[in-house]
Amino acid sequence: MIKICPSVLSANLADLANECASIERDGADLIHLDVMDGNFVPNITFGAPVIKWARPAAKIPFDVHLMIEEPIRYIEDFAKAGADIITVHIEACHDITATLDKIHACGVKAGVSVKPNTPVEVLYPLLDKMEMALIMTVEPGFGGQGLIEETLSKITALKEEITRRGLELPIEVDGGIKADNIARVAKCGADIFVAGSSVFGKEDRKAAMNDLKNAVK
Ligand code: DX5
Ligand code: ZN
Repeated sequence: MIKICPSVLSANLADLANECASIERDGADLIHLDVMDGNFVPNITFGAPVIKWARPAAKIPFDVHLMIEEPIRYIEDFAKAGADIITVHIEACHDITATLDKIHACGVKAGVSVKPNTPVEVLYPLLDKMEMALIMTVEPGFGGQGLIEETLSKITALKEEITRRGLELPIEVDGGIKADNIARVAKCGADIFVAGSSVFGKEDRKAAMNDLKNAVK
């Protein structure tokens, strides 16, 4: 069964706590929180204090996607704020192993992400050190972009590697996921689907999430 993980980047961020409560009621499996520093990506969103105040509004896991340089500096802050999964970009980490160790030392699950132009193979030596792999299907930084088709073969390759090694590692995909492409992405082996504009951007978010799930059945 696939999981839908709405990204609050397309929600009303000035009303984040209520947006989290409402999307949980509507059936979201996780909530995706995009943290951007205006440095690793050309956009700025919010940091740990905002997540801390939104955390009590929902019970489902907070999936925190850090698009920041050297995230190791802030892992403790995001853990204390209530993150359940912290995903870092391999491109942003000087020492990825130390960063993953830090996340685990804080009692949080660790994810590692690759941008569209980063070969997926860089994740292979780390697969047994993470609880989730995130394949970006758009250039990180903005919601509402079109899915980059060339990224799909990376999902297939990663799924094959995970299966070959007998691991139980979920693959998350992020960017441009819509009802008319989700089935193809699922077929490549993705398990968790981040969806910003195709959920929070819709009037009826419950129906939007059902449309995504039904498209895969
Ligand atoms: C983009 C973010 C995504 C974004 C996805 O850098 O990481 O999580 O919110 O938005 P959509 O689903 O609209 O492409
Ligand atoms: Zn994201």
